[in-house]
Amino acid sequence: MLRLVPFPPDIGEIRQWFAGHAGERETGRAVRFAMVRDGRMIGLVDIDTIAERVGTLGYWLDRAAWGHGYATEAAQAVIRLAADELHLVQLKAGHAEDNPASGRILTKLGFRFLDTVQRFSRPRNATIWQRRYRRTLRDEPRARLAEQ
Ligand SMILES: CC(C)(COP(=O)(O)OP(=O)(O)OC[C@H]1O[C@@H](n2cnc3c(N)ncnc32)[C@H](O)[C@@H]1OP(=O)(O)O)[C@@H](O)C(=O)NCCC(=O)NCCS
Repeated sequence: MLRLVPFPPDIGEIRQWFAGHAGERETGRAVRFAMVRDGRMIGLVDIDTIAERVGTLGYWLDRAAWGHGYATEAAQAVIRLAADELHLVQLKAGHAEDNPASGRILTKLGFRFLDTVQRFSRPRNATIWQRRYRRTLRDEPRARLAEQ
C-alpha cells in the first residue's frame, strides 16, 4: 500500500531512509515520528515534501497493530503540529483505491477528496488508481481539531 516503498522491504534502503531523517527535519523538508507502544516501534507517521507551507501526510503500522485507532490518533497529532508549530497552510494525502481504511482515516480527520489519478506503484510494479485528498490548516482553531 506504500506506493514508493518496495515490498518485501529492502533493509539497506530503509536504513538509508532513516539516516536522512535528522537532516530532513533540520532543513524543514520533512518531520517523521515513530509510533511506540510498550517500548516497541509499531509504526510511523510523517509529513514530507514540505515546500511553500504545504506538506504530505503519510502513515503505516505493523499489521499486528492495525484496527486500534492508532493511525488516526497519530495522524491527528501531526496535523496539530503541522498547524501550530510548522505553520503549514495545507496538507496533501493519498491512498490506493483498494485501501479504504486509509481513506476512512483521512475523512475522519477532515480531509476532502480531490480526485483519482493514475500513479506507478513500486511494490506492485504496476500503475494503480490513487485517491488524492487535501486539508486546509490555515486559521484552524485548536478546539475544532481536538473535536475531530
Ligand atoms: C491504513 C492503516 C495505517 C490503518 O491503521 P489503523 O491504526 O488500523 O487505522 P485506524 O484504526 O486509526 O482507522 C482505520 C479506520 O478504517 C476503517 N476500516 C478498516 N478497514 C476498512 C475497510 N476495509 N473499509 C472501510 N473502512 C475500513 C476502520 O473501521 C477505522 O474507521 P473507524 O474508526 O470509523 O471504525 C494500516 O492498515 C496500515 O498500516 N496499512 C499498511 C500501510 C498503509 O496502507 N499506509 C497508508 C498508505 S496511504
